[in-house]
Amino acid sequence: MSEQKYYVSYETVHKLVRGLAERVEKSGYDPDVIVAIGSGGFIPARILKTFIHRPIYAVGISYYGTDHSHADHPHKIQWIDEVQSQLTGKKILLIDEVDDTRATLAYCVGELLKYKPEEVAVLVLHNKLKKKDVEMPVEVKRYFAGEEIPDIWIGYPWDAADIDEHNRKEREQRAQEART
Ligand code: G4P
Ligand code: MG
Repeated sequence: MSEQKYYVSYETVHKLVRGLAERVEKSGYDPDVIVAIGSGGFIPARILKTFIHRPIYAVGISYYGTDHSHADHPHKIQWIDEVQSQLTGKKILLIDEVDDTRATLAYCVGELLKYKPEEVAVLVLHNKLKKKDVEMPVEVKRYFAGEEIPDIWIGYPWDAADIDEHNRKEREQRAQEART
């Protein structure tokens, strides 16, 4: 992975989600529930709800330890518990911010399939074009990515300590792209 960072503002996130919601609608998929993978999927999920008016269930899954190193496998920090039976026979739209190694997403899909939903579709803001550690379960027939990008680190606005600086970097990056 290069040192380069790809800056994404809240405004860009909002527009990506809006575009994704339109694509979900055009595909004919009408989800009953949104499942958001935290924490990166939480803010995108709330924006998505503006366009796709469905309840959001939040799950917490982490692939990183407290020292930022990868754990052996993704693990649950928080799960759906009392409402899990409500997923049976339902059309789920699973949302996360990024499809990186795919390990977290595939793990989460696998766990959700245990409740025998009618379908699980996956939606992410960004898909990194790279060799994935894990394949998406074949049950996933619909997959929506807002943007396909190379394998570089994405700076999301919610990670920014200084949002003005963050937005400035996104603008600079766009100007640079326009010049090349
Ligand atoms: P995947 O299935 O979605 O590909 O996820 P993977 O297991 O590979 O790892 C996901 C973790 O890595 C997530 O953090 C995600 O936020 C983080 N991540 C991967 N690439 C990027 C990136 O380019 N930028 C940023 N900001 N994060 C990235 P997590 O441990 O699940 O925690 P959280 O940040 O969602 O709370
Ligand atoms: Mg995440």
